[in-house]
Amino acid sequence: MKPIAEQTILITGATDGLGKQTALELAKQGATILLHGRDPQRLDNTRQELQAATGSTRLEPYLADFSSLDAVHALAETIQARHPQIDTLINNAALGPGAPDSTRELSQDGYELRFAVNYLASYLLTYLLLPCLRHTPPSRIINVGSIGQYPLDFDDIMLERHYTPLNAYRQTKLALVMFTFDLADMLKDDDITVNCVHPASLMNTKMVVEGFGRTMSTVADGVASLLYLITSPALDGITGKFFDHQQEARANEQAYDPVARRQLHLLSEQLTMRSRA
Ligand SMILES: NC(=O)c1ccc[n+]([C@@H]2O[C@H](COP(=O)([O-])OP(=O)(O)OC[C@H]3O[C@@H](n4cnc5c(N)ncnc54)[C@H](OP(=O)(O)O)[C@@H]3O)[C@@H](O)[C@H]2O)c1
Repeated sequence: MKPIAEQTILITGATDGLGKQTALELAKQGATILLHGRDPQRLDNTRQELQAATGSTRLEPYLADFSSLDAVHALAETIQARHPQIDTLINNAALGPGAPDSTRELSQDGYELRFAVNYLASYLLTYLLLPCLRHTPPSRIINVGSIGQYPLDFDDIMLERHYTPLNAYRQTKLALVMFTFDLADMLKDDDITVNCVHPASLMNTKMVVEGFGRTMSTVADGVASLLYLITSPALDGITGKFFDHQQEARANEQAYDPVARRQLHLLSEQLTMRSRA
């Protein structure tokens, strides 16, 4: 792997919680950080805060609300124009389950909101940025998943019939593992590794406070896991794995079902209407 100080690293959802603290640590190490957020004020505040804390002038803000796939396209175009080379992509942005009594919501494209924001946006952004990741390998793609996973019901993927806040969130986290396994396989000859990590359980972040009302670990615990995936030379060439903290772990059984993964891939293609080169 390249030294961190020479890397360009895109972190989605960098305006709070795990993404923001990880950005801080990587900025301290001298990386060029592309900070993504959905709110212009929070994004600007984050950039200023990190700059004040680290002295880094290599912090760039990028705005996109992941509830719109058009916004994801625009984000990818802007980034590609400014950074033809990206070394590490961290798909971290997500909405938590929301309050326990919350009801189903839709994205701007009419998809179940969490499926769109937590999974489809990362899927699309990753494919759109593959040329940047292929530019100067080795590169790493890290999907921030969770140990909380719920099998996808392909007859009710938008949860029109059976919605619960927790399962809406958890199905997106399993979808990310399935995407990780497929993409790793697709990129196995490109020197681009793709892994998924459960950073820590019930960290003290916004989504946990809102959705669970209790915490079990700190953001620092999650940052340690994520930094391991980003910076450890021990993971050079390691791809297609699910990690629980820093240990390789077993995901939900559905992730190992090639038929289910194929079905998810085809559905994701269709829902994102990604044009193939
Ligand atoms: N917290 C945990 O215990 C835990 C456990 C396992 C996995 N994870 C995973 O860790 C990652 C980070 O979670 P966190 O706990 O740090 O959550 P968080 O503090 O709530 O931060 C989530 C980030 O995602 C952004 N985001 C939310 N909706 C978005 C949208 N529509 N478009 C673009 N960005 C959006 C947020 O932006 P705003 O600042 O504008 O809200 C924020 O920057 C997530 O993938 C989560 O699933 C967390």
